[in-house]
Amino acid sequence: MKTRITELFGIEHPIVQGGMQWVGRAELVSAVANGGGLGFITALTQPSPEDLTKEIARTREMTDKPFGVNLTILPTLKPVPYQEYAQAIADSGVKIVETAGRSPEPFMPTFKTAGIKVIHKCTSVRHSVKAEAVGCDAVSIDGFECAGHPGEDNIPGLILLPATADKMTIPFVASGGFGDARGLVAALALGADGINMGSRFMATLEAPIHDNVKEAMVAADERNTELIYRPLRNTARVFKNQVASKVLEIEREKGDDIKIEDLAQYVSGQRGKIVFEDGNIDQGIWSAGMVVGLINDIPSCADLISRIVREAERIIAHRLAGLVNPTGQAV
Ligand SMILES: Cc1cc2nc3c(=O)[nH]c(=O)nc-3n(C[C@H](O)[C@H](O)[C@H](O)COP(=O)(O)O)c2cc1C
Repeated sequence: MKTRITELFGIEHPIVQGGMQWVGRAELVSAVANGGGLGFITALTQPSPEDLTKEIARTREMTDKPFGVNLTILPTLKPVPYQEYAQAIADSGVKIVETAGRSPEPFMPTFKTAGIKVIHKCTSVRHSVKAEAVGCDAVSIDGFECAGHPGEDNIPGLILLPATADKMTIPFVASGGFGDARGLVAALALGADGINMGSRFMATLEAPIHDNVKEAMVAADERNTELIYRPLRNTARVFKNQVASKVLEIEREKGDDIKIEDLAQYVSGQRGKIVFEDGNIDQGIWSAGMVVGLINDIPSCADLISRIVREAERIIAHRLAGLVNPTGQAV
């Protein structure tokens, strides 16, 4: 399956593993790359730009296929040296970057001077158009179904993807809610050139997180996520658990007066370690998308990617082709 995304990034299959805090490390990224997809190391999972340089080197030892680095540029309580992370990526020789969180414009000179292709992840048509205008090579567009930050517009992929397609010249991947071949075919039909998956790649053999998290995702259905931080206008879709319920309770109690400090003890970054390393899935907030309702197993990344592509080809060549070809023969 060749698309503008496979051509642009020199990958075999139009399947991307987006940046994931705590999860996007060498083990997962190299497994996705070796399976023919495009994986992204999550820069800020590494405590310093020097550690990121080491993680890139570690990934290179595990694959000789293309991979990238995600740089998520969000306002934080503790300042993050974003420019130093960007420079570390440029100096490492990595040629693909996924940006997210806010416009990558201030970092484009660093990336473009180093010959890096930039795919910007965003959640609206207007931000996709802006990304194209500031020189991004591609966009990854997250619908309301997605894990993490879906933005504040609440527009699901079924509307967001064709609306984006109508306004863009550069290629884009569909993100949020994708986990199987049916999603890939639908994304292509809606105008995308591939899919980006987060949650689905967490429930794989190589994802470097505790098995309890993976098993909870397999057991969950599509109603097992919550939207927190809505009153702060920083909405996040997370797995439904005790801490998420507590956060929602506080949000209800405080109403419009809520501040991030009111929630700090429940949402601290350290709780990521408790969930992803220690496996206490109820003791911290962790991102997950509605697609958990479609996750029923824990395959290797290579098996997952090849299954999605193989089944997508079958859907296109048989089921869909059969609809327009009354003999039922694939065309
Ligand atoms: C555990 C987890 C952590 C994530 N962390 C980040 C992040 O740091 N930066 C980012 O751009 N996206 C992050 N995402 C979003 C994913 O890259 C992707 O856009 C999203 O998962 C797509 O929705 P899906 O889960 O339905 O596939 C995260 C997602 C998950 C599940």
